[in-house]
Amino acid sequence: MSITNNLKWRYATKKFDTSKKIPADKLDILKEAVNLAPTSYGLQPFKVLIIENQSIREQLRDAAWGQSQLTDASHIFLFCNFTEMGPEKIDNYLKLRSEINNTDVADTKPYGDMMKGQMAVLSSDQISAWTAKQAYIALGTLIATASELQIDSCPMEGFDKVKFDEILGLKNKGITSAMLAAVGYRSESDDTQHFKKTRKPIDEIFETIK
Ligand SMILES: Cc1cc2nc3c(=O)[nH]c(=O)nc-3n(C[C@H](O)[C@H](O)[C@H](O)COP(=O)(O)O)c2cc1C
Repeated sequence: MSITNNLKWRYATKKFDTSKKIPADKLDILKEAVNLAPTSYGLQPFKVLIIENQSIREQLRDAAWGQSQLTDASHIFLFCNFTEMGPEKIDNYLKLRSEINNTDVADTKPYGDMMKGQMAVLSSDQISAWTAKQAYIALGTLIATASELQIDSCPMEGFDKVKFDEILGLKNKGITSAMLAAVGYRSESDDTQHFKKTRKPIDEIFETIK
């Protein structure tokens, strides 16, 4: 199927088939796709928690207005953005980049100072908003890749982030929950799959400036 046919095939799955699990090789592809998503400066300022523990998933479901995807999907990818972007995070990125490219990290000092300067003037709310945006790009990449593999998903931000952070002890880790994707296989009894896509006409979304 073409990529657009797969994007038409996918839908925000409401009911997952609890008996179907994503095989390990496909899970690896999804993880790699998330890791390949572009981010501003390449800093990847987020972590993705894959929550397998069923009793934790039940607690998360309670904190997500009982949405069944939390317990019934094969996997939960919880995207958590960094709450601070101190200079060491920039240094770590530049060190990794230099190692991968076999170049001298000292040459990256002006670039590093520029990034550090940009981060330093942001409030912690602005940092969190910026890091969360980066995570959303990876969410989009995950959803599109899953559809290519005929894996269903539901992007979700309908949950109490404060409660999620408490349940998972995220505050001490310097991260906070942004949104999640429930990933797995649709239940035959999910009526939502039969709905037609509601999308604006393309010309309403795009305007060509000539
Ligand atoms: C960031 C984001 C958050 C969403 N949160 C929820 C959610 O909490 N629960 C849910 O059932 N669907 C959620 N959705 C699904 C949207 O309602 C759905 O993608 C939209 O209606 C378009 O339908 P489609 O994805 O089936 O094409 C969310 C989607 C996005 C992108």
